[in-house]
Amino acid sequence: MSAITREEFFTEFRAIKEELKNYAQEKAEKFWTREDLTQEEVFTAIEQRVWLEIAYVFFLGKQINDYWKELDRTTVTALCKHMWEEAHHYEIICRVLEKHGYTAPTEPPAQHLGWENLHWEALGKDRACAVAVWNCSETSTTTTHDIVIENCRRIGLPDLARCYETIKKDEEFHARLGEMIVEKYVVTDEHIENAIWGARRLREEMIHYYDTIYPAKEIV
Ligand SMILES: [Fe+2]
Ligand SMILES: [Fe+2]
Repeated sequence: MSAITREEFFTEFRAIKEELKNYAQEKAEKFWTREDLTQEEVFTAIEQRVWLEIAYVFFLGKQINDYWKELDRTTVTALCKHMWEEAHHYEIICRVLEKHGYTAPTEPPAQHLGWENLHWEALGKDRACAVAVWNCSETSTTTTHDIVIENCRRIGLPDLARCYETIKKDEEFHARLGEMIVEKYVVTDEHIENAIWGARRLREEMIHYYDTIYPAKEIV
């Protein structure tokens, strides 16, 4: 018998997503709307944030390779689309980074190894655990896109704003797909244990993530 029921799991899972959406929005607003925000600060944040795009290509590849036989074919096809879109996000953002003299990251940022390793650990557990983890992560970003788009334009980065318009549209699909997979494939007590373990751990990692990419400006 699982420590929590399926219903309790979904209540907590959705509460974690709501909390993270609010946290992300608050941190993003403080960072992006600052009058003295510089393009350099933006690119420092974006260099870290873009790693998540390519990381999801690897996580999705592993998910599809290891679990495709346990999933419906339409779900597998949707995961392939998700994977391709993450590769596309990495590509379009890296082009902007390079255009402005920055380098595309090819290693996970040292500050975000906890986030990275949690996904790999979750991928080793069962068919839906990693999806529960990344659904919390991806859903939390949905409240930040409009803030990013508007303020990229404000500080003279319309090229970056255009990238996030594409990303915003795709991420709505990713968030819905993840929610659907968790609803369909978190079934047994073991799945519930694994999924809530992953969502709780992700909550900690994500708070650290937003604190790191959107640091409060030091008052001197
Ligand atoms: Fe993405
Ligand atoms: Fe995504």
